Amino acid sequence: MKRTHHCGELTREQAGHTVTLMGWVHGRRDHGGVLFVDIRDRGGVTQLVFDEETDETVRACADELRSEYVIAVTGTVRLRPEESVNPQIATGEIEIPVHALTVLNRARTPPFVIEDDVPATESLRLKHRYLDLRRPSMQRLLALRHDVVHRTRAFLHERGFLEIETPILTKSTPEGARDYLVPSRVSQGDFFALPQSPQLFKQILMIGGVDRYYQIARCFRDEDLRLDRQPEFTQIDLEMSFVERDDVISLTEALLVDACRGVAGVTLPVPFPRLTWHEAMSRYGTDKPDRRFGLELRDLNEAVANMAFAVFRDAVKRGGQVSGLVVKGGADMPRNQIDRLIEAARDFGAKGLAWVKIVDGWKLESAIAKFLTPEPLRRALPDAGPGDLLLCVADKPAVTHDVLGRLRVHLGTTLNLIAQNTWEPVWVTDFPLLEYDTEAQRHVALHHPFTAPCPDDVPHLDADPLRVRAQAYDVVLNGVELGGGSIRIHRSDMQQKMFDLLGMSMESAREQFGFFLDALDYGAPPHGGIALGLDRLVMLLGRTESVRDVIPFPKTQKAQCPMTEAPSTVSRAQLQDLAIKLVHDPVKARPAESDPHSR
Ligand code: AMO
Ligand code: AMP
Repeated sequence: MKRTHHCGELTREQAGHTVTLMGWVHGRRDHGGVLFVDIRDRGGVTQLVFDEETDETVRACADELRSEYVIAVTGTVRLRPEESVNPQIATGEIEIPVHALTVLNRARTPPFVIEDDVPATESLRLKHRYLDLRRPSMQRLLALRHDVVHRTRAFLHERGFLEIETPILTKSTPEGARDYLVPSRVSQGDFFALPQSPQLFKQILMIGGVDRYYQIARCFRDEDLRLDRQPEFTQIDLEMSFVERDDVISLTEALLVDACRGVAGVTLPVPFPRLTWHEAMSRYGTDKPDRRFGLELRDLNEAVANMAFAVFRDAVKRGGQVSGLVVKGGADMPRNQIDRLIEAARDFGAKGLAWVKIVDGWKLESAIAKFLTPEPLRRALPDAGPGDLLLCVADKPAVTHDVLGRLRVHLGTTLNLIAQNTWEPVWVTDFPLLEYDTEAQRHVALHHPFTAPCPDDVPHLDADPLRVRAQAYDVVLNGVELGGGSIRIHRSDMQQKMFDLLGMSMESAREQFGFFLDALDYGAPPHGGIALGLDRLVMLLGRTESVRDVIPFPKTQKAQCPMTEAPSTVSRAQLQDLAIKLVHDPVKARPAESDPHSR
């Protein structure tokens, strides 16, 4: 038997045609004399019929069919009787009375039904990912991911970018996470690091005269995992020579607009709006603002500076920040709901959350009302009024912004303020070049140490490095950080200066990045680029909550693979080859006889 069609493509057009389908038994319904079997493949589902007309041996074989058996069938397409037409599916108008049936393989009873919306736990789904992937929603996401990659390649190819691979076994690149290390057998005691990104290689490609590079690049970062973070993920990574910030920004916008429209029919507004990092922090409390709803943070420092409430007054005096959120119509929020918000704010790191109900005549109702004066608040919040609820945090600016930024998103979700099917991209620019790490007691790069400072701010590098802005930009879609990039430092004196500011000694810089500093000395062109998180882009376009849904074989929250059970122990022989001794649990290594690698 040779397959003639897929299971999702037969319509009334093919009525009367004899066809052969191959696929999995999706389900069966035995109506006494008549047996209906749905056959499924990547394309969809087709209804097969076995009835009185069916050949006896075929019918006997059909009676043995169970879920997920793999079968091949031949039959002649016919229209379903009117009352059995199913307008929900593409093949709903036809069915196939079967005249030949072959069982290509049997299957054990699957641990969950192969359908969307089955209540299987994620760990069970991941353990049997081959079954999970058969579900229509997973097939759709795999295809969506393919479409995004395919379009991206075509887009960049047309604009003169070369797709170039960079090493996986390499040296540590500083993107700020822990490295995954691979021990070397040949030079014992030495390790490769898996790349956290192709950052240094793509810059070296610019120095190598490539001019325009891209790669669908696998990156590895040993960090705490979240819904939008995997230890192994993919970037659409690109770099361009002789460009300025706006060249990279407009190319990236065009790429995203093309991909979103082409694969998901989503129209993004161009040009994307831009916010400086300072604006993003003060209005949204985060560098990845979700602009699908309002509820912006309000600076209340001036309004509360002279009020009797010491928490506010003292915070302002100490250089802190008092900010608030105005929840429209929130004044009738019951006390227990407010208590839950206070708890949420504490979880986000606040010392407290002050709530104030604005009632008729702009009077204030609150546990702390007697310490507050309405007039200054009224002036600071001209759009607030009776019926609204004001939620305030006083703390160091970074804490106030962070807590209210997260509370804002929490309220956006729980109060249903986020309109579905809206797409709000935004660029965040002018990030600080450095931040101060109080634990390490030194400056660290906000992006990575190869990011160029804004030329206007270079004079402040020595005296006031924290006020220096970077030529860095992030693109954010619906509150998800989709990508980040920068114009790079292309002169070795500036790069050296940057390492100085980061408190890195000359020797240490040479040891880690000597090859790169050398390369900068041989005529590095001005260059810049960006990397977009492919998994996050597909997650958003696929309207799913987790990047795990768009990565065929993802890891769990604990960075494990339930299917292969990686990471796993290795044999003593392998460890010996690598001259590695386990400290904590030496018996964890497998004995040599069970080891397929031992010679
Ligand atoms: P950055 O570290 O900002 O920049 O990464 C770029 C984008 O990659 C995605 N991303 C992730 N996606 C899933 N899981 C993760 N653990 C993860 N980490 C990052 C995000 C992020 O915006 N070399 C620079 C780019 C450059 O400067 O050109 C870099 O890697 O969407
Ligand atoms: P306390 O004096 O700690 O009992 O707090 C009095 C009120 O002020 C309570 O409603 C607290 O939640 C609130 N509060 C305390 N600290 C802060 C803070 N840092 N920011 C905002 N509100 C606070």
